[in-house]
Amino acid sequence: MREKMWQALHAHQQRLVGLRIPDFFANDPQRFEHCSIQACGLLFDFSKQYVQAETITALCALAEACDLQGGLEALFTGKSLNISEQRPALHTALRDPTLTPIRVFGRDLKQAIRDQHQRMGQFVQRLQSGDYLGFTHKPITDVICLGIGGSALGPSMVCRALAPYKNTNLRCHFVSNIDGHTLAATLGHLDPEKTLCMVSSKTFKTLETLKNAEAVRQWFKKTLGPSCDQHCVAITANPSAAEALGFSKEQIFEFWDCIGGRYSVWSTVGLPIALSIGMEHFEAFLAGAYAMDQHIQSTPFSQNMPVLMGLLGIWNINVLGFQTQAIIPYEDGLAALPAYLQQLEMESNGKQPGVGSLGPSTGAVIWGGVGCDAQHAYMQLLHQGTQIVPVDFLVAAQGHPDFPQHQAALVASCLSQSKALMEGVHAKDTQNPNDASAHDCPGNRPSSTLMYERLTPAVLGSLIALYEHKVFVQSQIWGINPFDQWGVEGGKRLLGEILPALENPNLRKDLDPSTRGLMDYFLKHSV
Ligand code: F6P
Repeated sequence: MREKMWQALHAHQQRLVGLRIPDFFANDPQRFEHCSIQACGLLFDFSKQYVQAETITALCALAEACDLQGGLEALFTGKSLNISEQRPALHTALRDPTLTPIRVFGRDLKQAIRDQHQRMGQFVQRLQSGDYLGFTHKPITDVICLGIGGSALGPSMVCRALAPYKNTNLRCHFVSNIDGHTLAATLGHLDPEKTLCMVSSKTFKTLETLKNAEAVRQWFKKTLGPSCDQHCVAITANPSAAEALGFSKEQIFEFWDCIGGRYSVWSTVGLPIALSIGMEHFEAFLAGAYAMDQHIQSTPFSQNMPVLMGLLGIWNINVLGFQTQAIIPYEDGLAALPAYLQQLEMESNGKQPGVGSLGPSTGAVIWGGVGCDAQHAYMQLLHQGTQIVPVDFLVAAQGHPDFPQHQAALVASCLSQSKALMEGVHAKDTQNPNDASAHDCPGNRPSSTLMYERLTPAVLGSLIALYEHKVFVQSQIWGINPFDQWGVEGGKRLLGEILPALENPNLRKDLDPSTRGLMDYFLKHSV
């Protein structure tokens, strides 16, 4: 059945040869209406993709043949979809406000979520009001947030994106890498008596995070002595490991194994967000994601935003052969969105296709950055280069009230890029017909555009959930478990061998010559 659907897609693509995206508009004056969806505060326009109505029908048929519906039911009801780790993936439960229980390993996860959420609320209230005091009875002014990957990218991206909603003087500082320069620069302007350290790690075993946590603890100890307990908070799915490292029970916020790191921004991992924008806005953020959860479950595939977004990716990657995907938000607040989506998409679907999936390539390389800056840097390659890079453009209708003209220019910039990619720029359009080849941009390059009124907490919640579900849709077509990351775990294991080898010459003997040569150079020049 699946094989037939793939064949149908490839046969359909052959029939499109010779046609260009502008032709699709010429043949269907209502193409924008036919190829755009509005839901959950977002307008998704995919009319500039290289697709026709038949393409969408064929892609939806493929999704049905891959039992996407069954996959979605399994996801939302907590079936053990993460087979290699034998657990469900229940990030959607974190934003589900209903009281319907979801039992995981004998207990109601929803009740546990509500308990932690309530603790978060109390904690935020105490910190924001200045009730929460440090060891020397001074209120907290700064929070160092330690964590990496899924324990950092979500909170830091969202804090930045929702900065206009900040309702506190508390400052959050994110440190993820084990680059001593960053830690030194961060600690350099902080007062330990007024600083809180939040250590976020699902496993509480991650080298980068634990090294930074230990360094910050030492920094506290120098000023405050051993009693720096109330300056340290842990956020983890492994509370016993946090306790073993000296965090007291009351200072530990929990989430659970069934919440993947890169899907954890909705959990207690979102504490820095709640601290910055308050619980009410954090709840609006969750509500936005819940709206998208409802949309994907209740909307026919042909009008379903995340389903179509996922299927368009399948078409671009597997049928048209485009291997990368650019994310270009026209909003500085979303500068960290490409990096966030890199982890979400590449760690989830950067895997070999499942047996019988028949889609030979899997997750695209995700990259990008903010427009207009992108235009003045790498958009050249997208317009004239030999690789075709589908783009997701994102832009708000409303800008800062003090600078209304700015938003018009920003939106116009975004629209001119997508139009130029689609139509191309041809010699006759240029000032200098003598040098036609240098000016010629071929066009016929696909993009989608997401527009929204304003980047509210709810809109951002919907947007992130949209991409989460896009990833899930694609994983179902490719037969991938999107919730494990054994490739990364392999690298982590190797680090456990390489780090000791730096100290022990015996362990260096059997290493490959390149690694050994580089280690020798390091050891010679490190002091
Ligand atoms: O190294 C990859 C990874 O395992 C991610 O999946 C995860 O988000 C990150 O490390 C951090 O892990 P932890 O939250 O357990 O510290």
